[in-house]
Amino acid sequence: MHVLDHPLAGHLLAELRDRQTAPDRFRMICKNLTVLLALEATSHVRTKQIKVETPLCETDGSALDQGLAIVPVLRAGLAMLEPIVQLFPDVAVGYVGLERHEDTAVAHSYYSKLPKLVGRYTLCLDPMLATGGSAVQAIDLIKAHGASPVTMVSVVAAPEGIEKLQDRHPDVDIVTAAVDLCLNDRKYIVPGLGDFGDRLYGTN
Ligand code: PRP
Ligand code: URA
Repeated sequence: MHVLDHPLAGHLLAELRDRQTAPDRFRMICKNLTVLLALEATSHVRTKQIKVETPLCETDGSALDQGLAIVPVLRAGLAMLEPIVQLFPDVAVGYVGLERHEDTAVAHSYYSKLPKLVGRYTLCLDPMLATGGSAVQAIDLIKAHGASPVTMVSVVAAPEGIEKLQDRHPDVDIVTAAVDLCLNDRKYIVPGLGDFGDRLYGTN
């Protein structure tokens, strides 16, 4: 479990939480926060030593030596896709579509398109880890395609979701910008930031 500990992460998260933040600004902040999350989530990717010719001489360098994959959970996880593709242009991308039922908050899967993930260092992207139901289902699918290791990357996580994910997938690392207090009676994260998908796409 890794919680970002950087002044910029706290600054960005506070603006994301602010109910006055409009969708265009919300998307921009989410991108910037995702860069910080992605750096933390990929800090253990394997590297190899290489030789590099600078304009002056040969020197030692290092290069990434492990296939990477990302799997955004639709819809909200799409907000985290582009900044990671920019950082890692060779990343493989898969998609999982999950939607929570309005009354029960139980997620059901409506779409899945995953590449072969065997041997790939895979990040599951979903900004909200609330009950953990969506994350568990997404990671079930990701593991069924052979991914290892798998890291869950969220913007905000509730203790209930962390506990469920750690119980069902104890090998999965969780990287987040904040661990919040609890869930409310509608299973929204408190203090949270509301419905991420609606705020991202202006659909409430
Ligand atoms: C939200 C969020 C997560 C899920 C988290 O998605 O983006 O996927 O809820 O809740 P959980 O941990 O309790 O499963 P939602 O179902 O609202 O769909 P959307 O992203 O399409 O808006
Ligand atoms: N999904 C959201 O978008 N927000 C929450 O607080 C919980 C689930």
